[in-house]
Amino acid sequence: MELYLDTADVAAVARLARIFPLAGVTTNPSIIASARQRPESVLPALRDALGGEGRLFAQVMANQAQEMVAEAHKLRGIISDLVIKVPVTAEGLAALKLLKREGIPTLGTAVYGAAQGLFAALAGAEYVAPYVNRVDAQGGDGIQTVTELQQLLTLHAPGAKVLAASFKTPRQALACLLAGCEAITLPVEVAEQFISTPAVSAAIGKFEQDWQHAFGTRTL
Ligand code: E4P
Repeated sequence: MELYLDTADVAAVARLARIFPLAGVTTNPSIIASARQRPESVLPALRDALGGEGRLFAQVMANQAQEMVAEAHKLRGIISDLVIKVPVTAEGLAALKLLKREGIPTLGTAVYGAAQGLFAALAGAEYVAPYVNRVDAQGGDGIQTVTELQQLLTLHAPGAKVLAASFKTPRQALACLLAGCEAITLPVEVAEQFISTPAVSAAIGKFEQDWQHAFGTRTL
């Protein structure tokens, strides 16, 4: 599986890249805006924070296919192997087809429905990103959407991967992996929740206490 962080926080990427087997970093316009750095500076900094390796994703802002393609070229002028995120609208589908023809890797984003995601894959997207938490927030079922999308891709577009996104809890991310998704992207807070478990800290504390009691030290 591929594990990504969904952030433009360079320090957090450096910190968590030491701990997690990261495949790379995904961003979106809101994430880059919140870092208050232009793509020209933040994307290379994120690549450095990953140790010079890993896949980076950045999104186009245009809403017409030809302009999306032009922006994809501009973004890949910053990071030559960048994966281009394209919102899955009618124009986005046209852009995905054009970018596929050029051999540029893409991710279909802003996916709220399984059929929408399938069409992105059929248009040539390498990844499709359903928004789990945002679907839930609308009164839908994010995990069910992801499950259906994964089944559709397995059956009809096996070359494409679900990169499940928009999480508020570790449980949502695990449910996507159990549904067969090959990739997930976690906000920093959710990634940190996976490794900050009070029960584990309590267990280690008890081991130290028992060792101290028996041998007068906490070391071997
Ligand atoms: C992924 O493509 C999205 O940009 C992102 O995961 C959305 O996450 P959010 O709903 O937490 O903003």
